[in-house]
Amino acid sequence: MESASSRPLYVGLAGLGTVGSGLVRLLREDRELIEKRVGRDIVLRKVLVRTATRERQAMLPEGCELTTDMTSLTDDPQIDVVVELMGGTGAAHKLISRALAHGKHIVTANKALLAEDSEDLFRLARENNCLLRYEGSVAGCIPIVGTLTDPLAGNHIDSIMGILNGTSNYILSEMTSNGMDFDAALTQAQELGYAEADPTLDVDGFDAAHKLTLLIRLAFGLDYPFASMPVQGIRNMDKRDIAFAREFGYRVKLIAEARLHKDEASGKTRLEAGVFPALVHHSFLLARVGGVYNAVRIESQVSGPIFLHGRGAGALPTASVVLSDLLAVARMDRPNNTGFVTEIEKASIVPPEHWRSRYYVRVMVSDESGVLRDVAGCMADEDISMAQVIQKENEDNVVPLVYMTHETTAQAMSRAMQKVRETGILRADPVFYRIL
Ligand code: NAP
Ligand code: HSE
Repeated sequence: MESASSRPLYVGLAGLGTVGSGLVRLLREDRELIEKRVGRDIVLRKVLVRTATRERQAMLPEGCELTTDMTSLTDDPQIDVVVELMGGTGAAHKLISRALAHGKHIVTANKALLAEDSEDLFRLARENNCLLRYEGSVAGCIPIVGTLTDPLAGNHIDSIMGILNGTSNYILSEMTSNGMDFDAALTQAQELGYAEADPTLDVDGFDAAHKLTLLIRLAFGLDYPFASMPVQGIRNMDKRDIAFAREFGYRVKLIAEARLHKDEASGKTRLEAGVFPALVHHSFLLARVGGVYNAVRIESQVSGPIFLHGRGAGALPTASVVLSDLLAVARMDRPNNTGFVTEIEKASIVPPEHWRSRYYVRVMVSDESGVLRDVAGCMADEDISMAQVIQKENEDNVVPLVYMTHETTAQAMSRAMQKVRETGILRADPVFYRIL
């Protein structure tokens, strides 16, 4: 029998869309590099798609078979590794669990599946001594999964904060720099291959939350149930708030954040985590992450802060890290699927209403005497102190009153906003965002 290190690695690819096509291209163009890196060929044997009628055989290497039958990948004894690039949860789960049961290694970029329904997949991988690699599932080509499981394994990580969705960052950047409308920017992101098949996952924050769930496991060894994560997206982002934020010296970004809090009295550690739009001061590195780029800032007391930056979506950037996972399989790197050899524990969660931060607030009111006093009164009732205020004159007598507050809790801010609503002075629902 040929040894595992010299015979070709045979691949079954599920999905020939944006990332799948990028991978096919890299496997063709980088053959020499692959041979030099791992000393063996990586051969695409079969490709699974949903629609048989579309003509795509031409883009596949000679001898590679196109199929719509999932079992022809999962059950083929000639295939060593299944690369899942279909997306979604149901069919992808079936494919991966069946492939693992047949002893195949897995490479996937499917963060939705891994965040929502993967406990049994990690177990199956362990039991079958299979590699389950997923570098492409978080932050595009930024090597954050490998960074957490390997070079940072000697650190107690205190916090992870980042921009984890390329589509949202692209939309916010286009709205900020080019004055583009939300819908037009989303359409462009879709045309560029950045968005999910269901783009609500991007703009409503769920894609970033999927990725954050994976990072929490890798960084802290904790399970934060995806369904419990507080998530707010950018669907209702108004260009006026982006413009006001700029006047104050801030950029609006969709932030994913997880940090550990140690309660000194009880000695217990709890996790604060969520996804939300926030104002980021222009002098912070995160504020300068533009377009489809993502960034991750990791903080640990031993290492200090570390900042990783790179393209967060798109065919070739993502395919490049999927390929690096394939190279790891070709080298037969040991299984290190979660970065921990022990079971992942349930996280003890800080309720979102207890989160503390400064806030940006915009209320639309009639330009009349006493209005400013009324709003300020509702904030003062909740012990919220204002740091800055601006009011803009408007022709139609409805004016935006914009505040920056000092630090308070999410609960106090929600109560103050409810009180402002009850005064009857509002001409539209208030808008408020956290400030980093
Ligand atoms: P895509 O362009 O929508 O392509 C999906 C491919 O999977 C298509 O070829 C489709 O077949 C096939 N497929 C879908 N469901 C299938 C099923 N039930 N059976 C067989 N084939 C099926 O998706 P993508 O953007 O490449 O994303 C793929 C995965 O990578 C997703 O998990 C996504 O979250 C992740 N990802 C994407 C990016 C990115 O920038 N796009 C970045 C990182 C991670 P047809 O061609 O016949 O429709
Ligand atoms: N739709 C995702 C994004 C793809 O825009 O970030 C990369 O995971």
